[in-house]
Amino acid sequence: MLINTGIIEFKKMDNEYGRLTPVEALKDIPFEIKRVYYITNVPYNVTRGFHSHRNLEQVLVCLNGSVKIRVKTPFEEDIVELRDPAKGLYIGNMIWREMFEFSEHSVLLVLASEYYNEDDYLRTYDEYHKEAVEYFKVSQK
Ligand code: TYD
Repeated sequence: MLINTGIIEFKKMDNEYGRLTPVEALKDIPFEIKRVYYITNVPYNVTRGFHSHRNLEQVLVCLNGSVKIRVKTPFEEDIVELRDPAKGLYIGNMIWREMFEFSEHSVLLVLASEYYNEDDYLRTYDEYHKEAVEYFKVSQK
């Protein structure tokens, strides 16, 4: 996996009535959840994201359908396909992300560690690259 990312497997409570997947803050995901949002109605040929966050941590869960997530640093990248509602993609600080190939009726749930804060975004790849090169140089020492 790419640095500052990971796959989290949630508990699956299966019985003849179906599946229930519990997700608890600080137990199943490594932060306190301050915000939840979900992305729906994305045409298949649209790519979203194209940004990074300085401090925000997130866990992405595809509740229905499938979606691909490109996660990258200035040095490496990975593509993760989410299609299992019992798996989450953790994305930590300073990871550039792009979400694409949303299937029809897909629902992407995002659990976030902070309230919405536009100042935390790195919105252009240039700006991201400059800060991320420094960030990963220091954190890999
Ligand atoms: P944005 O982060 O650009 O979405 P994506 O990266 O998936 O393309 O957010 C889209 C719009 O929604 C933008 O105007 C900011 C707004 N927004 C909120 O108001 N609150 C939120 O929690 C988020 C994530 C976005």
